[in-house]
Amino acid sequence: MQKHYEADYQQLVSQKLSKVSKEQAMAESIGGNFLHFGIFQRELLLQQGLAPHGCLLDIGCGSGRLANALKNFPNLKYIGLDVVPELLSYAQEITAREDWQFNKQSGFKLALENNSVNMVTAFSVFTHLLHEESFAYLAEIRRVLKPGGKFVFSFLDFAIPEHWAVFTANVLQIHDHLNQFIDPRMIEVWCQHLQLDIIGVFPGNEGHIPLSEPVTDAQGKIHSGLVALGQSVCVIQKPVDSTATIYAMLPEDFDAERYLALNPDIAAAGIDPRVHFITHGQFENRRLK
Ligand SMILES: C[S@@+](CC[C@H](N)C(=O)[O-])C[C@H]1O[C@@H](n2cnc3c(N)ncnc32)[C@H](O)[C@@H]1O
Repeated sequence: MQKHYEADYQQLVSQKLSKVSKEQAMAESIGGNFLHFGIFQRELLLQQGLAPHGCLLDIGCGSGRLANALKNFPNLKYIGLDVVPELLSYAQEITAREDWQFNKQSGFKLALENNSVNMVTAFSVFTHLLHEESFAYLAEIRRVLKPGGKFVFSFLDFAIPEHWAVFTANVLQIHDHLNQFIDPRMIEVWCQHLQLDIIGVFPGNEGHIPLSEPVTDAQGKIHSGLVALGQSVCVIQKPVDSTATIYAMLPEDFDAERYLALNPDIAAAGIDPRVHFITHGQFENRRLK
């Protein structure tokens, strides 16, 4: 069965494709502002230390707004995930990067090795997920990030007056898909549970992204100096000594061999039983004894 986010987004994209040109449908399906917001996202990631030789995982990459703005970084490794195949195909087409991956995602497990990516992004994705779903992603993001790696995501924020209209539209049930709000204090709790550090929360109504040069949008407006995405942005970091830190979260009597014996699928997958228990097992009520 399709999950709510997959059914909603597939329907949105199919409807747009039946009404307007492909280019317009691909831009509108992910919220418009295709060229200049892609550049704003790129500049934000550069500000947060995106390594031009590193590996970037873009969860909910959509039609390639960010990928398009990054396509001239010759040594960047990029993995885009989304739930709508038409968006992924378009992103692949406009970036024309044979070496980049655009993969269909289902569920919240990430098909990537532990400690394998330098940075993860999810722009306007947690906005469309239940909190439990975002938390499940966050646990996986923690697993795949290299120690010291950052996760940059945007969200609808109760603290921002400009976001209130979206909430009232939710109340009136005007939207055809979920528009989830997040309170920054909730992110703190998630990060405490997963042993992640919050580097910063940037309100969506205040410029915080420095542009290296002026950017002209499709309406001819010139943006310069500090800009914002509209949604608030949170930057989270996996601690550098994350292995030591995360092991401190295990129950005192945790027995790794016993855990593997009781959960043979984890043993077969070759996953570190301690990391598995912390990021998944405890939420799945896996047997310990
Ligand atoms: C508002 S769009 C933003 C797209 C892109 N991040 C950007 O800023 O241009 C949200 C995207 O998230 C995708 N999406 C929704 N649920 C998802 C999930 N559970 N996992 C991955 N992508 C998802 C949608 O298909 C859509 O492309």
